Amino acid sequence: MMEKITSLAKRRGFIFQGSDIYGGYQGFWDYGPAGVEMKNNIKKEWWKYMVYDQENVVGIDAAIVMNPIVWDKSGHLKAFTDPLVECKVCHKRFRADNEDILREHEKTHKDEKDLPAGEASIWAEAKTFNLMTEVLLGTTEPKEKSYLRGEITQGAFVNFKNVVDSTRVKIPFGIAQIGKAFRNEITPGNFTFRSREFEQMELEYFIKPDEKDSKETFEYFKDMRKKWYESLGINPKKLRFHDHEPDKIAHYARYATDLEYEAPFGWSEFEGIHHRGDYDLGNHGLKYKDNMTGEEYTPWVIETSGGVDRAMLFFLVDAYREDGDRVYLKLNPKIAPYKVAVFPLLANKPDLLAKARDIYKDLKRSLSVTWDDRGNIGKRYFAQDEIGTPWCVTVDFETLNDNSVTVRDRDSATQVRIAIDKLPEYFQNRLG
Ligand code: GAP
Repeated sequence: MMEKITSLAKRRGFIFQGSDIYGGYQGFWDYGPAGVEMKNNIKKEWWKYMVYDQENVVGIDAAIVMNPIVWDKSGHLKAFTDPLVECKVCHKRFRADNEDILREHEKTHKDEKDLPAGEASIWAEAKTFNLMTEVLLGTTEPKEKSYLRGEITQGAFVNFKNVVDSTRVKIPFGIAQIGKAFRNEITPGNFTFRSREFEQMELEYFIKPDEKDSKETFEYFKDMRKKWYESLGINPKKLRFHDHEPDKIAHYARYATDLEYEAPFGWSEFEGIHHRGDYDLGNHGLKYKDNMTGEEYTPWVIETSGGVDRAMLFFLVDAYREDGDRVYLKLNPKIAPYKVAVFPLLANKPDLLAKARDIYKDLKRSLSVTWDDRGNIGKRYFAQDEIGTPWCVTVDFETLNDNSVTVRDRDSATQVRIAIDKLPEYFQNRLG
């Protein structure tokens, strides 16, 4: 299944290996023309749901590189680590907590004679490995060491005071953000699932410290985030929550749960919902003053932290359908790269071309629309099915007489005849 998705993603311009012409670069991916449209749609839907549909959430867009003090205070320089083990035979390094992969690797050295004498295991003692990606800045030597952010989150915390001072927000309120994060992952893999550069979409929700209220807020956001994925078409049977065991919990969290998807490679984290308490604002020495009561306190934070790339990967996997020879992506039209594809029946008939071009340009003003005049209609449907385009419009000879076109539906493969001037309304009604 993952091979089919990876191959379709490349063939149809969703996702390419980073630096593809040089053989790729492990843990980095590039989004192609269809991919960037879909990724932008996912971010747009997230922003609508998490910011515009809320009464007390504002957005920010913080810098990727921050003063290194931030990462010291946030605990990332000490605690943002994964356990790493090295194979004593081939010196490959792995995450020590991924037992299946370690067992697989052990099989590759079954008959090796070169295990150091007297050693019972191929594994050296596990070490902690920091995931922060270092960058060197400045013009004088030695250059200043800073970091590409390991989570976008700290940008919301260090701007907490700026947001409170520059807007009318009052606790409880949220700061939303979407942006790139970087992690020097020990074992990137499963296509884009674990990358070294990826995008996060996060809400940091600030509340007055209170055990009961914070538990209710946590439950509220769990439910809300699951509903968002379901509303965009993810099969609810493939979603579940997995609470973090106390020994696996991130250094900043009091408690946490993952929203997981049943991927072809097993149940895997989509998004984390974390109760961060006063860990971050406390470490940055930030407080909130209630102007009505004069009360001053360090707010608690409930966080929802999802990956844009993981969301996109699981939306693709979940939408993949095979129906005989036909392969199609049953994507929710809201996140499909293009809503409509417009075709002239024949590419060598100027009348058909001109009419189709007019329709294409007109629809483009309000929708994401693509054009295809290569090959025959069957091949064009085949390509648009694989991209997940919900509707294809064909301009034929009848169109020249009665100003109607054929609209073909991706999921049912059925066709209806629609008047050209009714097309925008037809699609808008279906997009909701
Ligand atoms: N601010 C909290 C935080 O960063 P996290 O559980 O480490 O929490 C949140 O990350 C989300 O970011 C994950 O659920 C996942 O969707 C995405 N993510 C994390 N590491 C990733 C990686 N290496 N590649 C792709 N996405 C990743």
